[in-house]
Amino acid sequence: MSLKDKVAIVTGASRGLGKAIAMGLAQAGARVVVAARSEVVKDKKLPGTISKTVEDIEAAGGTALAVRCDVTDEASVKEMVEKAIAAFGRIDIMVNNAGVAFYYPVAETPLSRWDIVLKVNVNGTFLCSKAVLPTMIAQKSGSIVNISSLAADERDEGTVPTGVAYAVAKAAVDRFCYGLATEVGCHNIAVNNIKPKEPVDTEGMRYWEPDENITKDWVSPEKMVKCVVFLADQDAGGVTGTVSTDEELSNWHGL
Ligand SMILES: NC(=O)c1ccc[n+]([C@@H]2O[C@H](COP(=O)([O-])OP(=O)(O)OC[C@H]3O[C@@H](n4cnc5c(N)ncnc54)[C@H](OP(=O)(O)O)[C@@H]3O)[C@@H](O)[C@H]2O)c1
Repeated sequence: MSLKDKVAIVTGASRGLGKAIAMGLAQAGARVVVAARSEVVKDKKLPGTISKTVEDIEAAGGTALAVRCDVTDEASVKEMVEKAIAAFGRIDIMVNNAGVAFYYPVAETPLSRWDIVLKVNVNGTFLCSKAVLPTMIAQKSGSIVNISSLAADERDEGTVPTGVAYAVAKAAVDRFCYGLATEVGCHNIAVNNIKPKEPVDTEGMRYWEPDENITKDWVSPEKMVKCVVFLADQDAGGVTGTVSTDEELSNWHGL
């Protein structure tokens, strides 16, 4: 699959799944805007910066631009999108990957933590999508891909391991997909959500679960990256309005 001549923005690309997605899109030929907050490593347990991701993309022969962005801040999102357009002239792909969780039960969740989980996952997805829509509408094409989670539907285990705030946030992101896909189909813009079937081994996951017994069953981001590259190449004439796991999408489309 070639994304040559396309421009992608990936939020939360300083580490983890976002970095793997940014590298996968660049490998498929897209020019990639690497958007997150980390310009320096502040916590050794959470390594990764936007410039290191760009360095790794360039070392692999790709083209990328690091732009500091806090997805909860509308001004910061607007500035990031302006910088993307100034550098590359267009925006074809928006990957809303930035996410945070708070793993504690509701009774132990301070309002400030509840707020930040909803702000990063939900408001961030809304603000970044809103900011790229005028460009995509003018271009009469585009693809928005939101990274969701099985937590959105998890009910049978008594507790949601990643916390109820996170589950609520991802359920909202899934509903956002259906609503936005309906709104922007007439502009030839695809909107899809994708979620990992198995836990993906990332810095953020290890931060919460450093136990080797738990992490041994985690998978590499490879399948998610393939799915995002596939969805990034869609417009409203192709796959749109879907919420699926990487396993499902891979089976449906032979990825
Ligand atoms: N790993 C899994 O098994 C799994 C499963 C289901 C869903 N997901 C979803 O996949 C996505 C990535 O998860 P991950 O495991 O790769 O997490 P991670 O390793 O913790 O990475 C999270 C990324 O989000 C960024 N971020 C956090 N707050 C931000 C903000 N306010 N503005 C901009 N960027 C922000 C972080 O960058 P900075 O700190 O530099 O800003 C970082 O790059 C999330 O949406 C998560 O919910 C992951």
